[in-house]
Amino acid sequence: MYTITLLPGDGIGPEIVAGAVQVLKAVQERAGVQFVTREALFGGCAYDATGDPFPEETQKLCLEGDAVLLGAVGGPQWDNLAVEKRPEIGALLPLRKLLGAFANLRPSTVFSALADASTLKREVVDGLDIMVVRELTGGIYFGAKYRETLPDGNVKAVDVMEYSTGEIERVARVAFDLARKRNGKVTLVDKANVLESSRLWREVVTSLAGEYPDVELNHILVDNCAMQLVRNPKQFDVMLTENMFGDILSDLASQLTGSIGMLPSASLGGKIGLYEPIHGSAPDIAGQNQANPIATILSVAMMLRYSFDMPETAGLVEQAVAGVLNEGYRTADIMQPGMKQVGTREMAELIGVRLKLS
Ligand code: NAD
Ligand code: IPM
Ligand code: MN
Repeated sequence: MYTITLLPGDGIGPEIVAGAVQVLKAVQERAGVQFVTREALFGGCAYDATGDPFPEETQKLCLEGDAVLLGAVGGPQWDNLAVEKRPEIGALLPLRKLLGAFANLRPSTVFSALADASTLKREVVDGLDIMVVRELTGGIYFGAKYRETLPDGNVKAVDVMEYSTGEIERVARVAFDLARKRNGKVTLVDKANVLESSRLWREVVTSLAGEYPDVELNHILVDNCAMQLVRNPKQFDVMLTENMFGDILSDLASQLTGSIGMLPSASLGGKIGLYEPIHGSAPDIAGQNQANPIATILSVAMMLRYSFDMPETAGLVEQAVAGVLNEGYRTADIMQPGMKQVGTREMAELIGVRLKLS
């Protein structure tokens, strides 16, 4: 029996997490495993209900369970709150820190049925399988932030990007270990031609590579990397990078798969894994049964693989997703001529049914 803390959050969060729960129920039947789910307030909805975007009760539940499944947080109605009350800074970042989730795995995998759904040519993306390993609890997200008024009356805003050797080494190990089980290649993405922190990343990662003679290490500057991801993404295997570069590059990489609604993530490092789609709360389509639940459903597959040691069952979930896509079912974001458009609930239901039959 495993206990999963559900944090649906804001915007499309409740819809996509409900879809993932449908699939979790199908996993229970298919694999004969029992999940207990406990839902908690998190993000803007928690602020509205309690005045705190990350209430103590929610923190306690997260620490008591075996894994956390998060939808998304944020939205325009909370954008002008005091910084520490905002869903992103008051809830999401503290959750990642609380769980010690320093390694964020964001796989960009193209399902063959969707090779024509990308805005890039089929031959550029077909068969793509890359893994962005994004450092998640350090860097400019967590460095000092402040403003000061200068003697001349101008206002200065400061965000500090900082990394220690230990922070770099532990996430780099995750990337090297993953590469060993994949295609044996790590590309470190940085801005070492300008940033001191990037130069430290290069030193630490290059020296660690000595322990992994079977893994090939390459370096690339982040601006060139963004261009290469669009030009020829299949040259990459594992892409290791700091927090903000990883945030930006993984949204870019998601579009290679057809939609940001396809990209799951696992945030690892602590005792309790955190699983969430990489996209946000999509306020523009919230409450319309329109969001693609597949990113969240594939996050459940990552939970099975990385937190519950159920790799075969994780594979079955991924195959059920592939099967439903092969049958031509599409949510609006990946819709193409001749395909059958369905909503969030229907897509999750189809995947659950297919999983039970597998
Ligand atoms: P977003 O990812 O929410 O949306 C970007 C675009 O992608 C929108 O057009 C949206 O409709 C579409 N989209 C996203 N997910 C989709 C899905 N599952 N199916 C179909 N279409 C989908 O990014 P944004 O608009 O920049 O941010 C909106 C809010 O979400 C902001 O408040 C932001 O801070 C927050 N956010 C939260 C998280 C998180 O909780 N992890 C991540 C990113 C953004
Ligand atoms: C993500 C999001 C978050 C991030 C924001 C909402 C703080 O964009 O999970 O990718 O930048 O990490
Ligand atoms: Mn992001």
